[in-house]
Amino acid sequence: MDKRGNLLDVRQLRVIFHTYRGLIKALNGVDLWMDKQERLGIVGETGCGKSVTAQAMMRLIEEPGKITEGEVWFENRDLLKLSEDEMTKIRGREISMIFQEPKSSLNPVFKSGFQIKETLLNAKKATPANAEEEVEKILGYVGMDASRVKNMYPHELSGGMAQRVMIAMALATQPKLLIADEPTSALDVTIQAQILELLSDLTQKMGNAVMMITHDMGIVAEFCDRVVVMYAGNAVEVAPTKELFQNPIHPYTQGLLRAVPRVGRPGELKAIPGTVPDLVDPPEGCRFHPRCDYAFDQCKNVLPPLLEISAHHYVSCYLCQKDGCPSAKKAGEEPW
Ligand SMILES: Nc1ncnc2c1ncn2[C@@H]1O[C@H](COP(=O)(O)OP(=O)(O)OP(=O)(O)O)[C@@H](O)[C@H]1O
Ligand code: SF4
Ligand SMILES: [Mg+2]
Repeated sequence: MDKRGNLLDVRQLRVIFHTYRGLIKALNGVDLWMDKQERLGIVGETGCGKSVTAQAMMRLIEEPGKITEGEVWFENRDLLKLSEDEMTKIRGREISMIFQEPKSSLNPVFKSGFQIKETLLNAKKATPANAEEEVEKILGYVGMDASRVKNMYPHELSGGMAQRVMIAMALATQPKLLIADEPTSALDVTIQAQILELLSDLTQKMGNAVMMITHDMGIVAEFCDRVVVMYAGNAVEVAPTKELFQNPIHPYTQGLLRAVPRVGRPGELKAIPGTVPDLVDPPEGCRFHPRCDYAFDQCKNVLPPLLEISAHHYVSCYLCQKDGCPSAKKAGEEPW
């Protein structure tokens, strides 16, 4: 089997949740891949499966959820086939995660320095003799006054400081992949910018890849090399960032970009009409068809495969598999 990325290759990942309302088909065969040191953005409306994708990759789906199908190749191992012991060694060492609410990921009863120290010792990135020194060094890397911050409890940290501590802990083990799930959406705009810059600098220095899960197309434009657009449990478009912004093909991606505020764009922002479907009873075929202006009969029956329509640009839509692609922009037309 040819791997599509030299770090990560997720194939046909499916996750369900048993709930009192019925079976939620949350991931409907997700495909995505990453190269070493790459920064991949995952975007899509709320509920489309971004966080569940990350949790499933890390095997953190708990009851009532279940991974029913798929492969998660991380370098040369399928993470879904490893024992729980082997997986524990990967979590936090080779793949780390940071989240939207940093304080809820920190243990409220321990000082931040102690928590970083434990992470380092567990991952064997420090010895009891040099751990204190390493903690100070790491807090310095994330731009904090180490002697003060290491003695602070999580409730004493501001949101931005707590996220810096989380980033320090996540990167302390020198992971190959950092998954950042909406890492700045709970922060003020100025702090958001500082945290993104910090993530950008540190990950460049350390050479790890970043999967950036976000609602924010501005963050994608600024931070990511490549983007996966998700809709209702599928990756529907995958492209290098510049290509995605200049030439979005999937009608859903076009809708997302039309909803982004732009300086100098006349008229009002157009939200995508309709809502994300209920995943207990999702539409057959292309899950976007009830909201799609271009939908035709074929769309309602079978899910379109994710196909490469031009170099490195993949789309799951029947339109571009027909002759020409009516949704593509013509030469000379306004960019999106
Ligand atoms: N523990 C759970 N139990 C039941 N359903 C769940 C659970 N976790 C996620 N889901 C469902 O899985 C689907 C995907 O959720 P997910 O959290 O991945 O969305 P998301 O794209 O991360 O959204 P957001 O942008 O709001 O974070 C949703 O329909 C959600 O309701
Ligand atoms: S497959 Fe059909 S319904 Fe789905 S996005 Fe393409 S045209 Fe629209
Ligand atoms: Mg989420």
